[in-house]
Amino acid sequence: MNYGLEFTDTEFKLLKTFIYQQTGICLAEYKKPFLVSRLRKRLTSLRLNSFEEYYNYLTKHPAGQKEMMHMISLITTGKTQFFREKEHFEYLTNKVFPYFLKKAIAKQKIPKLYIWSAGCSSGEEAYSLAMVANDYFSIYPQWEIEILATDIDMKALNKAKSGIYTSKEIASLPSSYGKRYFQKVKGQDLFKVKDILKKLIVFKYFNLSTDSFIFERKFDIIFCRNVIIYLDLEVKQRVIQGFYKTLSEDGFLFLGQAESLLAFNNAPFLLFAPSIYRKKPLET
Ligand SMILES: C[S@@+](CC[C@H](N)C(=O)[O-])C[C@H]1O[C@@H](n2cnc3c(N)ncnc32)[C@H](O)[C@@H]1O
Repeated sequence: MNYGLEFTDTEFKLLKTFIYQQTGICLAEYKKPFLVSRLRKRLTSLRLNSFEEYYNYLTKHPAGQKEMMHMISLITTGKTQFFREKEHFEYLTNKVFPYFLKKAIAKQKIPKLYIWSAGCSSGEEAYSLAMVANDYFSIYPQWEIEILATDIDMKALNKAKSGIYTSKEIASLPSSYGKRYFQKVKGQDLFKVKDILKKLIVFKYFNLSTDSFIFERKFDIIFCRNVIIYLDLEVKQRVIQGFYKTLSEDGFLFLGQAESLLAFNNAPFLLFAPSIYRKKPLET
């Protein structure tokens, strides 16, 4: 096939392997045209004549690391929205938060909730988590909520950090959330997340495929939705082991509604509710 720029099978293999090593994302043969269309502009702006030259730039040039960030941003799928798969947020409010509240009261411990949005894209998932958590816990002033939101796409992370969204992007928000947690940017069709939510979240780069799952403390809730679907079995295994290590003993793991751990014979998780997993059953 002629894509206007030759992309040989050898070049495709080189880039596919490199992308897999760097991100865990596995590109099937049919993704060749996708890769060409996403990377063509990079070759032009770097004045490179072939994908082999682009590969050499990525792996050998002093600016290769910076270019890799650019490439990751172009090839990842960042599709997301506020309150995507809204049943998960209802489940948090109806089951998960009351569970942790009851536990903290029973143990007379300093109540803290530590949440990880892994593969947060441009931040909509993390802010949705912050909204429901803040709504639920604001009547208990001692509660501390901390949300770590991570991704490998720096462009998406920068948008997440800015907390600025268009009216179209906030259209999926239930209107009461829009009014309480966003303020209009004067003279523009943009809305900014209020500080009350921003201060609950830390946005960071974290590569699920290569970074070590070492954190200061364990998470009570991990959201990793619509991310592992892009990873191959080997990387998925690694990620699942990482989540097992970093989730508290009675924590909750939320996957996307189209994802499951069914293919993993030895997954150390139990399906607790649709697309929601735990290390052990909820105590009653
Ligand atoms: C489709 S979005 C999902 C966003 C959000 N979790 C949701 O469900 O709406 C997938 C995200 O996973 C990120 N991602 C892909 N591979 C990753 C990796 N190895 N480590 C961290 N994030 C990754 C992508 O950059 C992208 O932002």
